[in-house]
Amino acid sequence: MFPTHLRGIHQMENSMKQWSAVTRWLHALIAATIIGQLISSLILVPPDEMEEATFLGKMAMETHEVVGLLAAMFLFLHWLWSFLSSSDVKLSKLFPLSVSGFRGIAADLAYLVKNKKLPSTDQGSGNLASLFHGFGIIIASIAAFSGAALYYVMDFTAKGFENPLFEEIAEVHETIANLMWFYLIIHVLAAVWHEYSNDRIIKLMFRF
Ligand code: HEM
Ligand code: HEM
Repeated sequence: MFPTHLRGIHQMENSMKQWSAVTRWLHALIAATIIGQLISSLILVPPDEMEEATFLGKMAMETHEVVGLLAAMFLFLHWLWSFLSSSDVKLSKLFPLSVSGFRGIAADLAYLVKNKKLPSTDQGSGNLASLFHGFGIIIASIAAFSGAALYYVMDFTAKGFENPLFEEIAEVHETIANLMWFYLIIHVLAAVWHEYSNDRIIKLMFRF
């Protein structure tokens, strides 16, 4: 805990660590569309069972396609953004796979094990969190890319969803989507844990 006279400085430091507006907007759009995808996936009726589908099941499938393509576009923009030198989510940050990056990850893990809590933004290197965020972008991108491939096979090949390729891609899509659930739950729990420890990252990330 910070003494009262230092709390202002701590808050100032924290707000200096806030993410850029581009990152915050892209993150919010990606989070909203992916959550929408996961929810619609619980209701949708796959194209090969469409004949017996209820109105809700059909609508959920339509929504899943449109929102999924939007998610794919936001993820594509996020990748473009991570290639720019002015970005605060450069590839080297999202994937700290260098000697110093690995040292940071090891130090963050050691802190976690020793203190039984996540290192706050000013206690750790941030590399462990960044690596986890990098995995999130990869998982979300594979989900969106495989979904877009399903869309292509369904709508732009002669056999449509009866094409054997459809079943194969659908398996990849569903497996990776299960990982997406897992990622989302851990990511949100970690964010809430930070927030609960007075490290106001949710407030900073969702400030518009
Ligand atoms: C962007 C992230 C996405 C996530 C997290 C996601 C998630 C899911 C999940 C969990 C299912 C399984 C539903 C079930 O168990 O039956 C599913 C199925 C499906 N998704 Fe997505 N999806 C995404 C993007 C897309 C996109 C971009 C499209 C196409 C435009 C798409 C098209 C489909 C189709 C056609 C199915 C049914 C596949 C089957 O026959 O089983 N998805 N999706
Ligand atoms: C599946 C959907 C989501 C994905 C793929 C995702 C991915 C990411 C990524 C890649 C970052 C790093 C910044 C960036 O590159 O944009 C990040 C940061 C963050 N996310 Fe998410 N996110 C998702 C949903 C959420 C949700 C629902 C919350 C709500 C609690 C959340 C809270 C945060 C916070 C607070 C940060 C900042 C972490 C820090 O300051 O160290 N995210 N997320």
